[in-house]
Amino acid sequence: MQNIVDSIYQEMRSRTDRGKVANYIPQLACVDPNQFALTVVTPEGKVYSAGCADTLFSIQSISKVFTLTMALGKLGDALWARVGREPSGDPFNSIVQLEHESGIPRNPFINAGAIAIADAIMGHNEPKESLAEILHFVRFVANDESISIDEKVAQSEMMTGSRNASLAHFMASFERLENPVEKVLGTYFHHCSISMTTEQLAKAGLFLVSNGTNQNTGSRVVPEHRARRINSLMLMCGHYDGSGEFAYRVGLPGKSGVGGGILAIAPGKASIAVWSPGLDKIGNSKLGTEALEMLVHETGWSIF
Ligand code: DON
Repeated sequence: MQNIVDSIYQEMRSRTDRGKVANYIPQLACVDPNQFALTVVTPEGKVYSAGCADTLFSIQSISKVFTLTMALGKLGDALWARVGREPSGDPFNSIVQLEHESGIPRNPFINAGAIAIADAIMGHNEPKESLAEILHFVRFVANDESISIDEKVAQSEMMTGSRNASLAHFMASFERLENPVEKVLGTYFHHCSISMTTEQLAKAGLFLVSNGTNQNTGSRVVPEHRARRINSLMLMCGHYDGSGEFAYRVGLPGKSGVGGGILAIAPGKASIAVWSPGLDKIGNSKLGTEALEMLVHETGWSIF
């Protein structure tokens, strides 16, 4: 496995067309696009890495996998009254469907859906308490107490977050949020600003590899059926309007973030995290997707 990971790294190092870093969040615009990291972790905890696998990056929308998991734990199936589970076919920050669909977002991974999930997690707590809870959960699944939020990224998002504020206010106009918009956005922006390395992120995905249990630590995170459902949502909606393309090219449940990270799950085989900050036109990591395509080609891990 280390040979495969090394050869993917060598290949990606030589690429000149690396996509474009996100610039609508100023703090992400200063990230060096030449960085690349790949980590594969097996259920037993064997770690195979190449590139800068111990460099922290902003996980952004990948955090939505963890908040969805938490919200399902808190609300169970009642969550599905507040957010749908269909692919949207629209960009991650689109507002159009909300108008025709009574302010209920299509799925938990588009921004509107993740804002609704942040509201659901909060109950009636303050953002500070909810964030402590989210961090606690991410640290637990990754088995790593050092994971934290990059406050500079959160501030940067807050200052340029008009689109997300619009989504939240639009949902609030349909009385879909239980908490004040500003508080929900505070929670949402901060959980998107969690920083992790590919090694930490791959470890955090292990519970989705083995039917809800992190075999390496022995902790059950979610029941088996829930792990399956989270994987299905990642496959169908995890790359927004690029989800079909990702399923076609890679064939694994995956979740991307605008920081250039992707978490991919090969059920029963491995949890994979890749990071390359340059994005394709849709906003998913360009080389990250290509690296996963190579990995699946080499290992035969596609679920299809
Ligand atoms: O709200 C935003 O726009 C960002 N915090 C997250 C978007 C994102 O990661 C989209 N993923 N590719």
